[in-house]
Amino acid sequence: MNNQPIGILDSGVGGLTVTQTLLRELSNESFIYVADMKGYPYGDKTLEEAQTFILKATDFLYDQGVKMIVFACNTATAAAIEVAKRRYPIPVIGVIEPTARLASRTTTNNQILLLATESTVKSNYYAQEINRINPDIRVISKGCSTFAPFIESGGYHDRVESLLTIDNEINGYKDTPADTIILGCTHYPMLRETLEEYFNHSKTFVDSSNETLKDIQFILSHEDLYNDSMNVTARLQVYLTAESKTFESILNEWLPNEKYSLNVIEL
Ligand code: SIN
Repeated sequence: MNNQPIGILDSGVGGLTVTQTLLRELSNESFIYVADMKGYPYGDKTLEEAQTFILKATDFLYDQGVKMIVFACNTATAAAIEVAKRRYPIPVIGVIEPTARLASRTTTNNQILLLATESTVKSNYYAQEINRINPDIRVISKGCSTFAPFIESGGYHDRVESLLTIDNEINGYKDTPADTIILGCTHYPMLRETLEEYFNHSKTFVDSSNETLKDIQFILSHEDLYNDSMNVTARLQVYLTAESKTFESILNEWLPNEKYSLNVIEL
């Protein structure tokens, strides 16, 4: 048993879509969430540039004594999961492997459309993972450089603006033969309903939360890391590496009624 918190990393609000699931399903656990607003956006940096920011944030989490680090960010996973696994003597879990696994199970016509940041697409991590599972699956990839900034600004609350943003970014993919679409950035579930509408509810959307939860539960169980205390009160500490005008209101929307502390830190 281990009663230390679980560390969660994202560049901004995207990791809240995973954190929502973790808070709900891991009711004895507490969490430290770093929103690396200083490194944001990871998605239009080279993987090397992103890695420098990411490791500062994960060093901070490690120094807080977390028992596990969850990369609740696809770009961070593509850029730094392997180096982070070697760097820390605690489990480090990314979102790409579980999401690729789920998408491979979901497609029935062996065609998957990946929507992700430019960096995630360039890394080719998804296609490699999916083809390792099933070499017959065709992965069509589209880097969507406007989505994360649009979501981070809170623009996704406006349906019409969201549809316009989606159409500007992916109109060439509206008739994709893929039956399954990966939301390959943890920000994108915030656009999910509008994306479903854009594709006339004809696709199956896959995101990172539930399948990543399974990996976390597996590690907690097999490495005997579950928190055995039933008295977790302050379950969420949030640290921003730079100020954000929108972060806290989006947090309150995604994690309503959650008690949390929020601090801006300099790394
Ligand atoms: C971003 O910082 O560009 C978003 C990263 C991601 O969730 O993949």
